[in-house]
Amino acid sequence: MNTPSEVRYPLQSRIRILVVEDSEADYELLVATLGRQGLNVECRRVEEADTMAAALRDERWDAVISDHQMPRFSSGEALQTLRRSGKELPFLIVSGTIGEEVAVEAMRNGADDFLIKGRLARLGPALTNAMRAAESRRDRLDAETALRASEQRLQNLSAHLQTVVEKERRAIARELHDEVGGALTALRFDLQWIARNGDAPAVRRAQQALETLAQAQEASQQLMRNLRPPVLDAGIVPALDWLLLQFRRRTGCAASFRTNTDQIELDDAAAMTVYRTLQEALTNISKHAQAGRVDVDLVVRDGQLSLEILDDGRGIAPGDLDKPTSYGLRGLSERARAVGGWLEVSPGRNGTAMLLTVPVRATEGGTPQGAAA
Ligand SMILES: Nc1ncnc2c1ncn2[C@@H]1O[C@H](COP(=O)(O)OP(=O)(O)OP(=O)(O)O)[C@@H](O)[C@H]1O
Ligand SMILES: [Mg+2]
Repeated sequence: MNTPSEVRYPLQSRIRILVVEDSEADYELLVATLGRQGLNVECRRVEEADTMAAALRDERWDAVISDHQMPRFSSGEALQTLRRSGKELPFLIVSGTIGEEVAVEAMRNGADDFLIKGRLARLGPALTNAMRAAESRRDRLDAETALRASEQRLQNLSAHLQTVVEKERRAIARELHDEVGGALTALRFDLQWIARNGDAPAVRRAQQALETLAQAQEASQQLMRNLRPPVLDAGIVPALDWLLLQFRRRTGCAASFRTNTDQIELDDAAAMTVYRTLQEALTNISKHAQAGRVDVDLVVRDGQLSLEILDDGRGIAPGDLDKPTSYGLRGLSERARAVGGWLEVSPGRNGTAMLLTVPVRATEGGTPQGAAA
């Protein structure tokens, strides 16, 4: 059986070790020990922060082995120098003086192992273990970086899709207005002419047709309003007011709207985010909440707009936000993030609270204005 000092490490490539050590003799002993233990190493000695930082910056290393106490440097400072370099390298302490408590503290701060200078039999295995551990740390960091990049790409894609959808909606609304709206108006003129000039049966049919036409015009206008909310034309405050009016009419639920401003400078994307947030919140309330009352507050202060929507319904249950087939609130969070804001949905004991915050170039102040149900 092999004793530790006889173990051979079949490493093809040379291991480059940066040794932080003030004593030339101890350094040479260390290098010789590593060689005797079968490691193919190439070492360089530094003994202070500047030279260590420069070596880490300018050359490729596989590991750092540091003495604990040196005249102008210490293992703790060496570890910090390594951290600052951003390199994820194994860090071993080899010391003649280190006590158990200090060693434990060093390990807690991120050192991989520590050895006593007179007892270096375990140096080779300690080094290879530490290199393996550092490699898995690097793999984990790479995986985390890749995950963050992929999340960022997904967020960008989602923001892009929102923009595309809104653009498409605007285009359809425009077509509806110009093509369908124009044709319906022309039809109305013709029917009105027949209603004035036709014989009695034609007049009756024309009047019926005019009633049907009025319904079709109302339906197409409603469709246009849904596709291209009045928010962009009339401003956000009247648009939110209008949404609440529709909600009250549709559900009979009491709903109040308060705001401390009536003029807000919002770009299209932010205005649409605010509008779609209230729209989805109200849809959710009518679908899920069984609420008797809704209170909406729009406040602009310190360059931020907050829209708070409170209902007194059954409240959101834990897990509701993770439903795999529910996209409403997830989409709203993405929208908020895309305009530099955020969305919080909190389950209250009394129903549900939603808070949207977005940055604004604000026209602040004004007296609070309310429009109770
Ligand atoms: N105001 C609310 N009161 C109670 N529960 C709510 C409320 N808003 C949302 N929920 C719960 O949170 C879940 C997620 O809402 P979300 O809007 O994300 O999806 P959804 O409404 O189910 O579907 P959609 O994708 O059509 O919006 C809902 O299914 C519902 O259970
Ligand atoms: Mg929903």
